[in-house]
Amino acid sequence: MPGEHVPVGIHDLTFTTTSLQLTHTELARHTGVPTAKYHQGIGQRAMSIPAPDEDIVTMAAHAAAAVVDRHGADRIRTLLFATETSIDQAKAGGLYVHSLLGLPPHLRVVELKQACYGATAALQFATALVHRDPDQQVLVLASDIARYDPGSPGEPTQGAAAAAFLVSAHPALLEIHPSSGLFTREVMDFWRPNYRTTALVDGRASVNAYLDALTGAWNDHQARGGAPIQKIHTICYHQPFTRMAHKAHHHLLQHAGLPAGPQDIAAALAPTTAYNEQLGNSYTASLYIALAALLDSDTPLDGETVGLFSYGSGSVAEFLTATIRPGYRQHLRTDAHRVAVTHRRPVTYEAYRTLHTTTLPTDGSTHATPTRTPGPYRLAGIDGHRRRYEATTSAPGPVTAPSGPPQ
Ligand code: HMG
Repeated sequence: MPGEHVPVGIHDLTFTTTSLQLTHTELARHTGVPTAKYHQGIGQRAMSIPAPDEDIVTMAAHAAAAVVDRHGADRIRTLLFATETSIDQAKAGGLYVHSLLGLPPHLRVVELKQACYGATAALQFATALVHRDPDQQVLVLASDIARYDPGSPGEPTQGAAAAAFLVSAHPALLEIHPSSGLFTREVMDFWRPNYRTTALVDGRASVNAYLDALTGAWNDHQARGGAPIQKIHTICYHQPFTRMAHKAHHHLLQHAGLPAGPQDIAAALAPTTAYNEQLGNSYTASLYIALAALLDSDTPLDGETVGLFSYGSGSVAEFLTATIRPGYRQHLRTDAHRVAVTHRRPVTYEAYRTLHTTTLPTDGSTHATPTRTPGPYRLAGIDGHRRRYEATTSAPGPVTAPSGPPQ
């Protein structure tokens, strides 16, 4: 019906991560840094480490398979793959996911980049596409591996994960509000030139740039009629390390004239940090994993307004809000999320360092990766500069009729 309000937002949300983890207790044993600095100072307990046959594609395919298995692929016309750990300068990583999952040919597949902000750009592009044609759905994948040089201040903020979400009309989880606040400013706080496998960062500058972008985006959000702070139940922040969310919330509340003490801030944010403090920074996926943690928490959210703050170094930021749909709990994947976090195998510091320095050949030679991942998809190797992916025995069958909870 012309003029009818069609709610658009996130219909399904899930994430996966790698099969290995390095705990910050183990890291502290080798760096000589007090464990308390990692646990309290930056708010991190462990970080996900990819096995040799895991990468952004295998993680994203794993997360996407769960969504496609539940809803089918018939209405998906667009697959947006957000990453800053791209494996190719030309080809979209989502094409490998398209092939591994056996998705139909009639959809567009594109990769998006703007540091950690990429998935939020994808979300906004997706909502616009669905508003244009509410019969269509958009599958958004956000997959990253955060790598810094060993011994650098960024080292304890590494991590890896992939989030997958389905953007749809009449969403089951949350409706995205049309008003949002934007803030863009060119700044060299964090970057990774094409010839490097690890990021470069000016840590202090990056924290300040994040906080400036938060107030900048918030001011724009308010100027455009966005919900006032008192109406927002909980804010999910991009979490490069979970203490950053605490700094951000403190900064925003002060800016909004509602200063709060550390204990109130910790209590307000605890439901959003439970997964990221175990996974580490997952760049584009981090905000959506904070959202998954909030939805999976004991906090009842039916009908509540939540805030989402997305920051991508360099820098682009956005503050948006959403209404949690009544009955959302029936559609969550809490058990699978807890399994993803708790079933990772701890590695020693020595094993982590070996994995950190191991790279695929760049001379076109043939290399087969050892079979390590328990996940449904693996990077089998590389030959002639071509990455080879394969399904494992735990992979779901080809795309068929949807299964799982009601659509
Ligand atoms: P650092 O050298 O570890 O900093 O680097 P620090 O020495 O100031 O210590 C950090 C905190 O630990 C401090 O607390 C200390 O007091 C505390 P704060 O003053 O911040 O509240 N501390 C202790 N606490 C308890 N017990 C102790 C103890 N000792 C010290 N014994 C830094 C920190 C974040 C700079 C570093 O980890 C880094 O460079 N990380 C990478 C960059 C980053 O994550 N930046 C965040 C904003 S930018 C962003 O979010 C974008 C990003 O995701 C990339 C993208 O967009 O693609 C990174």
